[in-house]
Amino acid sequence: MRGMNSSCVDLIYLDPPFNSKSNYAAPIGSQAAGAEFKDTWTLRDVAIAWLDLIENKYPALNRVIRAAMTPSDKSYLIYMAIRLLEMQRLLKPTGSIFLHCDPTMSHYLKTLMDAIWGRNCFRNEIVWHYQTGGGSKRWFSKKHDTLLFYTAGENYKFNGASVPRSEKSLERAKNPKGARIKSDNTLKMATDVWTDIPAMNPMSNERVGYPTQKPLDLLRRIIEASSNVGDVVLDPFCGCATACIAAEQLQRSWVGIDISPKAAELVGLRLREQVGLFQQGPHRTDIPQRTDIEPLRKYNHPENKTKLYGEQKGNCNGCKAHFKIQNLTIDHIIPKSKAGTDHLMNLQLLCGRCNSVKGDRGQEYLIARLAA
Ligand SMILES: C[S@@+](CC[C@H](N)C(=O)[O-])C[C@H]1O[C@@H](n2cnc3c(N)ncnc32)[C@H](O)[C@@H]1O
Ligand SMILES: [Zn+2]
Repeated sequence: MRGMNSSCVDLIYLDPPFNSKSNYAAPIGSQAAGAEFKDTWTLRDVAIAWLDLIENKYPALNRVIRAAMTPSDKSYLIYMAIRLLEMQRLLKPTGSIFLHCDPTMSHYLKTLMDAIWGRNCFRNEIVWHYQTGGGSKRWFSKKHDTLLFYTAGENYKFNGASVPRSEKSLERAKNPKGARIKSDNTLKMATDVWTDIPAMNPMSNERVGYPTQKPLDLLRRIIEASSNVGDVVLDPFCGCATACIAAEQLQRSWVGIDISPKAAELVGLRLREQVGLFQQGPHRTDIPQRTDIEPLRKYNHPENKTKLYGEQKGNCNGCKAHFKIQNLTIDHIIPKSKAGTDHLMNLQLLCGRCNSVKGDRGQEYLIARLAA
């Protein structure tokens, strides 16, 4: 995502790991054999440094992350927050985003989304109900996922969706006294509860064996509802490319991203087999570079200093005391030695004393020292 230009995507669908504390692995012998991804979280997984960045630049987001009940939830939310911020940069002002999750983390993710997009950009919490999965005698069987639907602004595309009417309402329509609909009108507008799309079953033709593969019908519903032909769809956790295939079939452009090499292999295979793409021709393996920004200024550029001085209202970002601009120095929140960048987002102004206390360490060290 870091290599993509800002405001270039019309619709984002993401189906990230759920923090389900399980490790998913594909059945041996399936096309996806070898695909597995970890869905357990510890604070060590995520550079603590990211939290510093959020603390410094995104106070609302920081409050949500602090509300997490366990360190594992907290680290998961940091991981998601950083990626969702990048998605916000990529989405056009008319764009929409659907975050697919389940009740494990949906309550936290909704507050995270509120903090990023604003509550006024919340459109729906969609319940996708399915029949698969086991039953339980100790609680009500878990039979739904949640899709959090937000838009970047007030002016967005929405085409809705039609679903079949129930047998019962069609029966009722045949009785002229009780009828409010015509009996040949077999479709109705979809609501925020989707019951007509079955989950992937073991016998399904589209199944490739990828552990968390979603049905094409689900992705087609989302893409048709919130984008038009020619629009750009992004799935930053694309797994075996369900969203990419659906987008291709519906004549949208698309970008799919996944960290797992097995997913990348399956994406190629599925696109060749199901939509005839990538049969031949050149392909590139270099990482894309943004073309909408100048190369980054050096971190200690005077313009950075003026901007940061304004942002921090002339205060040191450690001890919070007020200083003249010449008495503050530019510092990396995440040190360069820990892969912090020269981007303005990762810079702050510190007074001489705070700067020497912090040295080449992360901001968390300085804060702990100041609090001691
Ligand atoms: C729930 S699955 C997505 C399934 C997909 N919707 C489908 O229909 O196949 C989550 C995916 O996120 C990928 N993933 C996990 N961490 C990631 C990361 N940091 N960046 C990109 N992809 C990641 C996993 O490899 C996995 O394929
Ligand atoms: Zn200071």
